[in-house]
Formats: sequence, structure tokens, C-alpha cells
Amino acid sequence: MIKVLFVCLGNICRSPLAEGIFKDLVKKKGLSDKIFCDSAGTANYHIGKDPDHRSCDVASRYKITLEHKARQFFENDFEDFDYIVAMDRSNFENIKRLKAQGSIEGKVFLMRKFDPLKDKEEDVPDPYYGGLSGFEEVYKMLLRSCENLLEYLLNEHQIND
Ligand code: 4NP
Repeated sequence: MIKVLFVCLGNICRSPLAEGIFKDLVKKKGLSDKIFCDSAGTANYHIGKDPDHRSCDVASRYKITLEHKARQFFENDFEDFDYIVAMDRSNFENIKRLKAQGSIEGKVFLMRKFDPLKDKEEDVPDPYYGGLSGFEEVYKMLLRSCENLLEYLLNEHQIND
């Protein structure tokens, strides 16, 4: 099983949306027995909460249901997951700080490293304090990145779909 963890700050907006989109892509390719994903937040503000209703709304427009309860990222996740994908550079730095020993090389990535649309931005912007259009924008960014991330994993692990 290849295990992927998406990480943002609160685990209620971006990373549960990424998890829902990625799960849907994996399922459509019939790879749910080979690739598992989850999401977490670096902060503890929203532990146990459902995803933000705006993330749920945008997901449902694309026939995706978000089923996740927010949880905090913890050190064990470095052992439990093969790929940890941070939504922005701040999340990336926070994750890195939790890794007391050893390298994060090949394990922790920035989500937009996988975005084929190169517009010089490295972050999936935090949509929490903005309007609905921000969530739509984030959805599109995450879809492009998830599609590309899946292709990357299939190549890395020589899985034929
Ligand atoms: P997320 O968005 O990191 O994409 O889940 C946020 C959610 C909550 C807060 C910040 C960002 N907050 O400050 O409560």
C-alpha cells in the first residue's frame, strides 16, 4: 500500500479537499487497494471537526463527498506515510520542524510541485478568510496537482492503470 498524507494548517479547508479529490481519482482508476490517503493539520484548532462547509460545497459540485474529521499532524505520520504533501511553505516548514532526526528528502513535498500550471506561485493559498471563489480556485489547483501526483506515483512504483 502506498500511503499519502495531505497536510494544511487547520485540516478543514485545503487538505480534506485534496484528500477527497485524490481518493476519487484513485477510486476511478480502480487503485483503492494500492493507494491510501488521509489528511491532517499542523494546528490543533479544529480537531474532530468536519471539513469547512465551503470545501464540502465545492466538492459536491464535482460529485465528491468529503468524509473526514480534522486531526493534527503528529510525528508518527513520518513513519506511517510514504508521501507527506504540504499545501504551502508554512505547513512545509512546520512539518520539517517536527522531524527531529533523519531526512525528509523524498518524503515531504509541496503540493504545487505537482501542479502542471506553473504560475510561479508555490503555495495553495489559504481560502479560510476569503469568499467562495477562493475555494473554487483552490479546487482547480488541487485537481491539477492531484492528477499529476497520481501519475508521478504510478510511475515511481511502476503501477499500470
Ligand atoms: P486550512 O484553512 O489550513 O486549509 O484548513 C484554515 C482553516 C482554519 C484556520 C486557518 C486556515 N484558522 O485560522 O482557524
